[in-house]
Amino acid sequence: MAESMRGLHRSHRCTEVTRENLGQTVTVMGWVQKSRNKGGIIFTDLRDRSGILQIIFEECDCGAEVFEKAGGLHSEFVIAVQGEVTLRQGAVNENLKTGDIEIRAKSLRILSESETPPFPIEAGSRTKEELRLKYRYLDLRRPDLQRNLALRSRVAMATREFLTKEGFLEIETPTMIKSTPEGARDYLVPSRVHPGSFYALPQSPQLFKQLLMCSGYDRYFQLARCYRDEDLRADRQPEFTQIDMELSFVDVDDVLEVNERLVKKLFEEICGIEVSLPLLRLTWQEAMDRFGSDKPDMRFGMELKDVSDVVKDCGFAVFQNALAAGGSVRGINAAGQAGMPRKKIDALVEFAKGFGAKGLAYLAIQEDGSFKSSFAKFMKPEELQELAAAMEGKPGDLLFFAADRNPVVWDVLGNLRLELGRQLGLMKKEDFRFLWVTDFPLLEYSEEEGRFMAKHHPFTMPMEEDWPRIDNDPGAVRAKAYDIVLNGTELGGGSVRIHQADIQEKMLQVLGFTQESAHEQFGFLLDAFRYGVPPHAGLAFGLDRVVMLMTGADSIRDVIAFPKVKDASCLMCEAPAGVDAKQLEELGITVSQPETAAQEE
Ligand code: AMO
Ligand code: AMP
Repeated sequence: MAESMRGLHRSHRCTEVTRENLGQTVTVMGWVQKSRNKGGIIFTDLRDRSGILQIIFEECDCGAEVFEKAGGLHSEFVIAVQGEVTLRQGAVNENLKTGDIEIRAKSLRILSESETPPFPIEAGSRTKEELRLKYRYLDLRRPDLQRNLALRSRVAMATREFLTKEGFLEIETPTMIKSTPEGARDYLVPSRVHPGSFYALPQSPQLFKQLLMCSGYDRYFQLARCYRDEDLRADRQPEFTQIDMELSFVDVDDVLEVNERLVKKLFEEICGIEVSLPLLRLTWQEAMDRFGSDKPDMRFGMELKDVSDVVKDCGFAVFQNALAAGGSVRGINAAGQAGMPRKKIDALVEFAKGFGAKGLAYLAIQEDGSFKSSFAKFMKPEELQELAAAMEGKPGDLLFFAADRNPVVWDVLGNLRLELGRQLGLMKKEDFRFLWVTDFPLLEYSEEEGRFMAKHHPFTMPMEEDWPRIDNDPGAVRAKAYDIVLNGTELGGGSVRIHQADIQEKMLQVLGFTQESAHEQFGFLLDAFRYGVPPHAGLAFGLDRVVMLMTGADSIRDVIAFPKVKDASCLMCEAPAGVDAKQLEELGITVSQPETAAQEE
């Protein structure tokens, strides 16, 4: 039987009760973590979002009726207890904030009973994630998730405070819009009033924040909900939150400067992680050449080395063919790993093939200086010596080489480097290495589309000195675009925007837009630019990713209250779901069931 709150007021959260309150009567409320009846005495652990407090029921304190009621308490009952704060009589529990005190209950109300939950509510749960996500409201009671969401709230508050002090205005932009060009698929919302027409949910507030600059708001920010229909991974959700901003009358350095101070404030104040400024900056080219990645994990070395020059005349056809085709031969040195068992090396070769490698050549330098290698028979001993020297290989080292087109070589060795870093325990969770990656290529050739696409988006400003090459060598034009990276994760990214009509027009032409198609998609932005547009630039952080790294969570699902799973469904509310025929009719929509789906039904 559920009792009411009448006349009761909570005086403290569980762990707000301390030794300072000894002798006082307090009123606490929460969930029963567990309750044990030890004959004449009942020990109940009471839990709320602050933590756990021990309640003692003894007939001499609370009388027979309350004692009997307390005997019926079970896990997850919601109760209110009034009682006196006393020193703990049993052993002090060092693991609890309230481990040296207890409440001797005088009264008890059972505010709500509970069925036995499908899994225990405890930190470090070993329950399968699917089950926890189905009962997310129970999972969210667990202290790990409560800590994560509390930290997320503090990040949001600190961000607002910092940016407001820096002169930014928080402005909301619509979430029923026309498609934004961020490169993922849109989620669409059908219009009832305009049958056959659809709103798109924003992939980001990109166009609207640029318009706000045109309108003179000069520094904007928003904790913006974004929606992208793309393949999900541990650090991607179909809906996620950005700390989104845009600034007028600025260039690259201004944006990086204010944002690294924001990062410093967030990580130092909220997590006590020291961040020294200015942050390291690498150009995209340097990041790729040294780490094979545009989001390098800087917690360990094992850098890539280009050995194309060293092997250019050797007899190994694999290397020769790659060079002849305009590619490169690069290697990494897994120091001290020469003794790696063959089986493990073979597994790494397979791993490399997963990233498009045709093979992975290796060279182990034995302690006596001799070589064990998959390609020794194709090269002269002095060529092998030279190659090992170029890799700074010492006895005991294991060298890996990939030969292919540059993008493949980078991807293969970049990922191999990370895999070795993981296997060898080189990435410490408590180590935080930030950096900016700058000067991204403006365009990226899409084999699929057979044309150049914008690497960031079509409004990103090219570097002035590269712009003259746009016709003859578009792939070589760099952009004023930057990403902020932490431990191998892209935390955020942005760019200076094009504000000159002639450059924008040319850019759209290079991207294959006709005047009509450009106007069709974002004519309102191009129009706005005809009426006085300030130079502007911006950036967006993935808030979920920031919080994931701060909490050490393995997935952004652990820092989002109600996340979705890999197939973009919500296991709890079972979205997406079918709708009434009437709703579809109103929207003028008929659904053609793919045959396979129909068969499954
Ligand atoms: P971008 O597309 O790089 O830039 O996104 C910015 C940041 O948002 C985060 N992010 C995601 N987080 C979780 N799930 C996702 N599916 C997801 N996709 C992106 C990443 C990323 O770095 N409008 C531009 C910003 C700008 O130019 O100002 C933009 O959206 O952390
Ligand atoms: P093979 O001539 O195919 O026996 O290859 C000799 C060695 O070169 C093997 O270790 C292969 O894994 C390796 N190998 C093959 N293709 C490549 C490549 N593109 N890059 C690096 N190593 C390769």
